[in-house]
Amino acid sequence: MSNTQEIIELAVIEVAKARTLEALAAVRVKYLGKKGILTHRLKGLGKLSPAERPEAGRLINLAKNEIDDTIQRQKIVLENEQLDAELTRAHIDITLPGRGSSIGSVHPISSTMSMIERLFGRWGFEVCDGPEVEDDYHNFEALNIPSHHPARAMHDTFYFGDGRLLRTHTSPVQVRVMESREPPLRVIAPGRVYRCDYDQTHSPMFHQVEGLLIDTQVTMADLKGVLETFLREFFDENDLAMRFRPSYFPFTEPSAEVDIKLESEHGVSDWLEVLGCGMVHPKVLSNVGIDATHYKGFAFGLGVERLAMLRFGVADLRVFFENDLQFLRQF
Ligand code: PHE
Repeated sequence: MSNTQEIIELAVIEVAKARTLEALAAVRVKYLGKKGILTHRLKGLGKLSPAERPEAGRLINLAKNEIDDTIQRQKIVLENEQLDAELTRAHIDITLPGRGSSIGSVHPISSTMSMIERLFGRWGFEVCDGPEVEDDYHNFEALNIPSHHPARAMHDTFYFGDGRLLRTHTSPVQVRVMESREPPLRVIAPGRVYRCDYDQTHSPMFHQVEGLLIDTQVTMADLKGVLETFLREFFDENDLAMRFRPSYFPFTEPSAEVDIKLESEHGVSDWLEVLGCGMVHPKVLSNVGIDATHYKGFAFGLGVERLAMLRFGVADLRVFFENDLQFLRQF
């Protein structure tokens, strides 16, 4: 390889063949590197006669420059190709449908509670709450259930052993509201309650909505009117069959339980108990410092699960708490 022109031609062919930046770098090393062909030539200039040296040196340098230019141009071409390839690979097809996200639904117990709050809200009842970890006084004593009282046995209470307990009903909220506020009062208190009980119609945690109305002129007829209106609206049935059955609660006198009969596609159901109620016992009023000769009141406690079971036609209360998505997605 004596002629620099030949070297240039060979180099140009090799550059054109280099399809990657790595291959191109190898061509540069081969011709222009420290041990490259042209470098070698330059070093060999010393062997030439002084007369030949300048021309030979000029030709070698020309060849170096030309090969360098060729490599630079090819480098730009290869870099552009690489960029194009990357852009094609990273291309996002914005016409593809999105992945989508499924939206949850309101739990049937929550939706039932909201509905109860909405209905009573319409009639001026304000929503209140109280602690789920209660003391004996608010859960029992103030409600006229002293420690020896047989009604305590019916409550299957979870005790903490230090005088505190999980409230067995929402009635302690009645007491707390009456302790902290002046009548007239018109409140409901929705919330969780706990009893040591578990079967098709009982769960150790369930929900109640307490209602309390205190004013100067309140009778059992008001209680009946409010509850009848509520149940008719709740079940959206104007001629809903309903009965007030005399009952007993230590904190109301007189007391009643309300049963309803529902029609389904299989016919009319048996009587079903949905709530307890009564006129607030004078002893409860005096416990919280309300003058029982001046003020009267009524109270009621609704079982939310019971109402939700009837509303949605669910036979086993436990499914509300099993978090089975197939069940919950129906609502
Ligand atoms: N607290 C009673 C229960 O849990 C229900 C009730 C509330 C009854 C208010 C009368 C008045 O069974």
